[in-house]
Amino acid sequence: MSPFTFIDAFLLRAFRFRTRGFLHMEEAPGTVPPAPRQGSGYLYVHVPFCEVLCPFCSFHRVQHQHGQAQRYFASLRKEIRAYHAAGYRFNGAYFGGGTPTTEPAELVETMELVRELFGVRDISVETNPKDLRPEILEPLRAAGVTRLSVGVQSFDDQLLKEMDRYEKYGSSAEIQARLRAAAGMFPTLNVDLIFNQPHQSIASLERDLDILQGLGPNQVSFYPLMTSPTVARRMAGAMGLPDHRRLRDFFKVIVRRLQPEFTPSSAWCFTRRGHGSDEYIVDADYYVGVGSGAFSFLDGTLYTTTFSLETYRQRIAQGLTGITTMHRLRPGELMRYELLMRMFGLRLDREWALRRHGPRFFRRLWGELRTLELLGAARRDDRGWQLTERGMYWLMLMMSAFFESVNGYRDAMRARVAIEQQESTTLCIPAAATAGK
Ligand SMILES: C[S@@+](CC[C@H](N)C(=O)[O-])C[C@H]1O[C@@H](n2cnc3c(N)ncnc32)[C@H](O)[C@@H]1O
Ligand code: SF4
Repeated sequence: MSPFTFIDAFLLRAFRFRTRGFLHMEEAPGTVPPAPRQGSGYLYVHVPFCEVLCPFCSFHRVQHQHGQAQRYFASLRKEIRAYHAAGYRFNGAYFGGGTPTTEPAELVETMELVRELFGVRDISVETNPKDLRPEILEPLRAAGVTRLSVGVQSFDDQLLKEMDRYEKYGSSAEIQARLRAAAGMFPTLNVDLIFNQPHQSIASLERDLDILQGLGPNQVSFYPLMTSPTVARRMAGAMGLPDHRRLRDFFKVIVRRLQPEFTPSSAWCFTRRGHGSDEYIVDADYYVGVGSGAFSFLDGTLYTTTFSLETYRQRIAQGLTGITTMHRLRPGELMRYELLMRMFGLRLDREWALRRHGPRFFRRLWGELRTLELLGAARRDDRGWQLTERGMYWLMLMMSAFFESVNGYRDAMRARVAIEQQESTTLCIPAAATAGK
């Protein structure tokens, strides 16, 4: 086993500590924030409903209930219109979750609204393998979906069982058959896989890679298993807990096996024809998250919306947005955040940084950039800094530390609406219990 070096451990610790600062939130007014005057923007639409709640999942998700989901989509459309009326314009839209395809008709209606209002060219949607059926996929294609992202997680039946997905989302053989049938329907078909699962062996990962390469998807997002205190408690049963010391070995196999057929689009996304990325937060100058439990990044400020579905419904009915908290990044924090996102997206462009921050960007981050160079993580060229293959591993570690901080924040927010979370299975939500955030 290759060692988990001192540098790896240091980067993980340093980043976990630093990213926590990004998420010190204070109360926000709740009206639509002023629209940024320049740059390219993305709309993120959060749909938190799922048929099963997987133990390892760190996202804001609740048990699907048809009536509640219909009311939720109606609120989403109202919130999207409010951003349009306030002057927002977007180049692309990302429908994530949860599982947006739990309500296909509502989803399509919402996509049509987004296309009508903003004329977006790119629409990305997350789904699960069970929803890869013509009656769901054909309307999505007609509604202009350009990227379909399927949560596969593993092609290993034993691991699918541990993840509690085998019964509901299908066996490895069933998932493969559905992916084969969906190949070619969308410009990009992405498969999500997770590595460093507690009971995953290198041999199992190699089999996943063999299967993936024999199937049609032209993109794969290979996530390291990321936890939070709550996720770790849920996983401690059947799944067990991941061991960071195995990350490097898994990642090495992934990078070696995927190239040259797939080329990196970010530190954990690989695309067959060498274009496209899974991460709108990497490319966009700003993004707006609508729905419950969504994040926005606007003019150097991070915002989050309420994690209570009932509070979300009430706020939208009152003409507010879902936004309840915000954190204005200090200049140094903002530059480090943007450096992390850009390097994760494989390069930092000197002109881009100068346009956004002026020469102080390089004065402030001289140490960080020099460290990346000295570690062999980034190479300098005439346009700026390019991430190396070695650097991909470290950026994957730093990004996972960042997301684990985000997961910790989600845990805290969800704890505030614990009663609603518990009762979402019966849909008997007492308004008094969910008032507030
Ligand atoms: C929000 S889910 C949407 C996909 C869809 N709901 C499904 O599961 O089939 C997006 C992806 O996040 C990834 N994910 C969720 N929890 C994770 C965790 N704890 N660590 C790493 N990746 C995770 C999974 O790969 C999942 O497919
Ligand atoms: S992994 Fe997907 S299906 Fe499972 S709980 Fe998370 S969002 Fe829902």
